[in-house]
Amino acid sequence: MAELATRPDEAIAALVSPQGRRDPYPHYEAIRAHGNLVRVDDGMLVAVGYDECVAALREPLLRVQDENSHDVVHPGWREHSSLRGFTESMLYTNPPDHSRMRRQVVGTFTARRVQELRPAVVRLVDRLLGRMADLGGGGAPVDFMAEFAFRLPVAVIGELLGVPESDQVWFRAVSAEVTLALEGITDLSRLDRADAAMDELSDYFADVIERRRRRPGTDLISALVRAHDDGADGDRLSRDELIGNLVLLLVAGFDTTTHLLGHGLHTAFEHPGFAARLRAEPGFAPGFVEETLRCEPPVQATSRWAAEDVDLMGTPVPAGTKVLVLLAAANRDPRRYPDPHRCDPDRPDNRPLSFGGGIHLCVGAALARMEAQVALPALLRRFPGLAPAGPAVYRDRWLVRGHSRLPVALG
Ligand code: HEM
Repeated sequence: MAELATRPDEAIAALVSPQGRRDPYPHYEAIRAHGNLVRVDDGMLVAVGYDECVAALREPLLRVQDENSHDVVHPGWREHSSLRGFTESMLYTNPPDHSRMRRQVVGTFTARRVQELRPAVVRLVDRLLGRMADLGGGGAPVDFMAEFAFRLPVAVIGELLGVPESDQVWFRAVSAEVTLALEGITDLSRLDRADAAMDELSDYFADVIERRRRRPGTDLISALVRAHDDGADGDRLSRDELIGNLVLLLVAGFDTTTHLLGHGLHTAFEHPGFAARLRAEPGFAPGFVEETLRCEPPVQATSRWAAEDVDLMGTPVPAGTKVLVLLAAANRDPRRYPDPHRCDPDRPDNRPLSFGGGIHLCVGAALARMEAQVALPALLRRFPGLAPAGPAVYRDRWLVRGHSRLPVALG
């Protein structure tokens, strides 16, 4: 194993090294050794502890990076359509615009609406398991990521948005490119592929929007188009905001959930006792999914920006400071979780920060949880002899962590 950095700024840099991308967890501990709120050499503050991350996410003066902060930190960012596109979405917008955008979509993802979607998810899971059975029936290995973990969430978000199934495989390729722009901007010159993907997605959604305008349906895009065309002035979404939020919903809606499914299956393989309980105990799945989210959060971190001088749990944060919020490290804070590296689905009061917190708390949290709670037990029950059929391969990303391949034999 590579030697661990001792200085916090070196440990931060190590997170995005090839070794850190494979296994970031020892590096979080190297940072934690310096405290729960750590200042690094360039002035950035790193929230490592659970309470510190919660406080950072809830502090109104710590804002998401938006066009104002980009102008200061990344002059030239406007030449990149990927950054322009995401900056029009709620994830990179602060109040009051953030509240206006978020209002338009939250209704689609309430706990009640998600429960109404459950039967459709059960049917989709069943269909995809049938497809896996066809592919792997003769003993051939099947890549769980490509054949299931990606297909389920993309089909669910596709159904909500009302985009046809025939476009969904294309989404995987194009989303993999566009999300390069979400990995934290380090070098603007490396965004060519993300820009091209954003251009393709923008053209695609512009076309869908026109079709919905002519023939509205009951899907989310039709509702957003109505809000764009007829909304009261204070509610209206601009055309760019509409497209930016659709791209966000698409990639936020499946890239992350795909990896929750991958981490869930990987965890079940590593703990056969959990796999057995997922098969046998209907009430076990929610705790298992929550613990998977805690130990392997698909989104490892987020960041904020101090709009004014602010005090964060007694630490002064001067205006202009970037705050890196290490969600994955918070989830393993020994003050919050005894024996934090042990996977224990029976943990009481398990509230990982994997969906963030504060006003940007993930819109799709209930949906993602429901998909995993339905899919993982159904998969393990359908294939009682399911087993790894080769090494699990992690994708080469730090921020959105997951597998690129997870080959399985159906048994
Ligand atoms: C396991 C799956 C998922 C994980 C781990 C995840 C994680 C996150 C996190 C950490 C944030 C907050 C980012 C921040 O504060 O900077 C977020 C925001 C968001 N997520 Fe998710 N997400 C998941 C699934 C979904 C799904 C299924 C959807 C939609 C269908 C979705 C839509 C969104 C949106 C729109 C936001 C922005 C909310 C805002 O800015 O107000 N996510 N997600």
